[in-house]
This record gives sequence, structure tokens and C-alpha cells, in this order.
Amino acid sequence: MNKYRFTSPLYWKISAALLFTLALVGLGYLFISSYTSQRYFQEVNQQLYKDVAKYMVEEASPIVDGKVDTAATHDIMHSMMVINRSVEVYILDTKGNIIDYVVPFTSVKREAVALAPVEDFIKNDGAQYIIGDDPKAPGTRKAFSAAPIYDKETLAGYAYIILASEEQSAVLSNLFGSYMLKTGTFMFFIAMIVALIIGLLAIGFITRHLNKVIETARRFKEGDYAIRVPDDTQGGLDVLRDAFNEMADTIEANIEQLKSIDRLRQELIANVSHDLRTPLSLTQGYLETLQMKEGQLQPEERQKYLQIAYESSEKLAHLIAQLFEYSKLEAKQVQPEKEPFLLAELLQDVTTRYHILAEEKDIQMQLHVQDEVPLVFADLGLVERAIQNLLDNALKFTPSGGEINIHLTNQATGVEVRIADTGPGIPVNEQSQIFERYRQVAPGNSKAKGAGLGLAIVKKIMEIHNATIGVQSRPEQGTAFWFCLPAYTG
Ligand SMILES: Nc1ncnc2c1ncn2[C@@H]1O[C@H](COP(=O)(O)OP(=O)(O)OP(=O)(O)O)[C@@H](O)[C@H]1O
Ligand SMILES: [Mg+2]
Repeated sequence: MNKYRFTSPLYWKISAALLFTLALVGLGYLFISSYTSQRYFQEVNQQLYKDVAKYMVEEASPIVDGKVDTAATHDIMHSMMVINRSVEVYILDTKGNIIDYVVPFTSVKREAVALAPVEDFIKNDGAQYIIGDDPKAPGTRKAFSAAPIYDKETLAGYAYIILASEEQSAVLSNLFGSYMLKTGTFMFFIAMIVALIIGLLAIGFITRHLNKVIETARRFKEGDYAIRVPDDTQGGLDVLRDAFNEMADTIEANIEQLKSIDRLRQELIANVSHDLRTPLSLTQGYLETLQMKEGQLQPEERQKYLQIAYESSEKLAHLIAQLFEYSKLEAKQVQPEKEPFLLAELLQDVTTRYHILAEEKDIQMQLHVQDEVPLVFADLGLVERAIQNLLDNALKFTPSGGEINIHLTNQATGVEVRIADTGPGIPVNEQSQIFERYRQVAPGNSKAKGAGLGLAIVKKIMEIHNATIGVQSRPEQGTAFWFCLPAYTG
């Protein structure tokens, strides 16, 4: 599974996404840090030199009698610029028009600057960071110092000093660049690599667990239906694991059920062909003889052959019916339709029907019903079928002159039906297997021969009712079968 981890496209996809994110973060970091450090520099610059314009105006009177005193101002402007080449000095009139300036290198490209930042700056006395128009680069704004110029007590204009000149900006950006390159970038790459390693480890951890799910799903698809995602799958994938495992359980159960139905169908076909062959060939054989020896047979012989053919076909019908009933129950195609009813009434009905058969065999059949037996909650048709099968056996195996006693009693576990006969009994070692299909005691006894499915059907019926069933028998003394259905509580 570990091998799979690094060949997993998922791992590489997530890793690529991580790399991309880290690169984006890196660019963002570079951008933000360059922006903030530039702004920091400008702010510091403004704080340091905020009074420069005021000093200049105090030293020289740039405007006298409404006119710019060019000689005096240029003088002082130059001396300022000799000391600090990063400044650019402008004289503005009261509307913000540039009326004089001393600027190194390039030319001035604006004729006026916005006055609002200038007035704000003067009002706050430079306490707040304010940027104003750069006359040399329209569209950019820089830190400045400003002071009002008075000519005989009236406002004549402003001294406006840009604090970071072009030259200084160029030097700064070089310095900044190399600084960033040397330390910032280095630190940043270290951080990137650490983040990458941690990220790849985390992705490895998650994909390792995710791959367990993927691998399990793949093997499940290939037919290993018993496989499940291991319990130690973590990384927040436990919900996925549980969902997959539950789904796998359901699919496996469905497949098992389909298989069992299929198995049953095959068994049924095998059994049907085997079990039906004997009575079918008997019927065919006798009918054939009757056809071929038409006219040569004595009436008694004819009668006998017809009787055998008829009995064989009846047996065939019984076999088919039993087989289909059992198969349906086994394949869980029968859903019990439960209802509350009185077992006493049902037993009364069924025994009335069996009385004639019992009388024919000279068997005494009696029903004993206890008082106040509660209702049961069961499928009436299926329970009737179970009672019939038990009575069929009792009648079939009890010899003439025998007795069949049916008891209905109220027990702690439910309502009990007990059918006891005085037949040959079932050997003790056979009793535990008697409910299995095709299990017959002394199967060679042709008179008693049935499908061997009657008791298996009764057991299935009791199983789908969650009811218990049992047998008590003593050879030569008789047999008692009982079942106990849960009482109706609703
Ligand atoms: N009351 C009984 N007394 C003695 N033996 C019994 C009794 N009931 C069942 N058996 C034995 O158990 C076997 C299985 O009974 P079961 O009802 O399943 O099959 P069957 O009666 O032979 O065939 P089917 O009921 O399908 O026609 C019987 O063949 C018989 O040997
Ligand atoms: Mg039977």
C-alpha cells in the first residue's frame, strides 16, 4: 500500500496544489512586504523631516509683495539640497499652482498639485502620515513637508517639499532589492521548504489513509467481497470508511442471498429430477403396459395398474407441492402476514377436517384446549400448514387403533401446541436431525414414504415466526411434536 502512495495520482495532484498555493503565498508575501517597507520608509521620512518646510519659510521669505523672491529662495533651496539631495522644493500659490521650484535632474511635469493633503498636513502639524502629488510623476504620490507662506500677514502660498526624490527612490529600491534578496528571500525560501515538507508529510498521511479506501474499493470491485477498510483508517476518513464498509456489507449480503437463491434453484432442479423420476416412471410404465396390452388384461389387473398409476401421479403432485413450498421458505420469499388470532379456533377447524381420515384408520383423535389461552400473533395460513404437516405425520405413522391427542396450553414462553400420537416413535439418535430436509426414519418403508420435507417446512415456518419447536419420542410408545408461538401482547 505504501508503494501505491507515491504512484498515486491523488498524491501528486494534491502536492501540486500545495506547491501552487505556496508559490502564491510567496508572491503575496513579497508584494506585501515590499509595499509595507516602502510605506514604512516614507512614513519615517515624513516624521523625520516634517518641519523642513517650516524652517525654510522661517529662514527666507519666499514671497515678498506678491512676488517670488527667486534669488533668496533659490539660494536657500540649493543649500538645503546640498545637504539632503533627496528633497525637491516647490513654491505653490494659494491655489496649488507651482510658481517656483528647485529640482535636480528631470523636469517637472505638473503645473499644480492638489491642495487638500497640503492643508491637512498643516492642520495636523505633520502628526499624521499624509502623501501628496509628485509634480514630477503624475499619478504617483509621495511623502512631503509643507508650510504656509505669509506675505505681510496674508497667506501668499505654500512651501511644498517632496521628501523622497527620484534619486533616493532609486537607491532605496536597489538597497531594498538586495536586502530582500539576501535575507528576506533566504528566510522566505527556508519557510517555504519547511512548509512544503510539512505539507507533503500531511498529504502523505492523508493519502495513505485515503489510498486504503481506494485500494479496498478496487479489490472489492475485483471480486474480493469480504474485504473492508481497516478500522485504523484515520485522517478524518472514518465517515467514508464506515459508509464504504456498510455499503460493502449490504452488497455482500445481497450477493450471498442471490447466491443462496441460485444454489437453491440448482438443488431444487437436481432434487426435482431425482425425486420425481421414480413416481413418474412408475406412472409412465403402468400406463404404457395398459396401452400395449389393451384387451389382453383381466379387469382386476387393469384396475390394479390404473390404481398404481393414479397413486404415483398423486405422489408426484404432493412431491412437487412440498418441494416448491420448502424452496420458497428457504429462499425467504415468503413474508409472514401476521395477525392476532385464536389457535383454539384454528385447531378446531383443522381437526374437524382430519376426523374423517382418522376414523377411516380407526384412530382416536382428541383436542384438549386449556381455558383462557391468549391470542397469538402469527401468519394464520402458515401456522395452519404447520399443524397439517404434523397431523399428516401423526396419522401416517400411527397404526390403526392408536390415538392422537392435541393439546393447547398457555406457557410462560407463549402458546403451546402439542400433537402426540401412539405411533412407532423416532429413535433417540434420529430425533435431532428429523427436522432436516429429506431426513426420514427407515426410508425404505414404502407405505410411509413421503417427500421427507414436511417437518423441514414446519421448522422453517417456526423460524420465520421466531417460535420454538421440539420433539419428544420414545420408540414403540409414541411421538409428540410441539411448537410454541409468542402470545399477542398488543
Ligand atoms: N409422528 C411421527 N411418528 C414417527 N415418525 C415420524 C413422525 N413424524 C415424522 N416422523 C419421521 O420423520 C420423517 C420426516 O418427516 P417429514 O414429515 O419431514 O417427512 P415425510 O412425512 O416422510 O414426508 P412429507 O411430509 O414431505 O410427505 C418421517 O419420514 C418419519 O420417519
Ligand atoms: Mg410428513
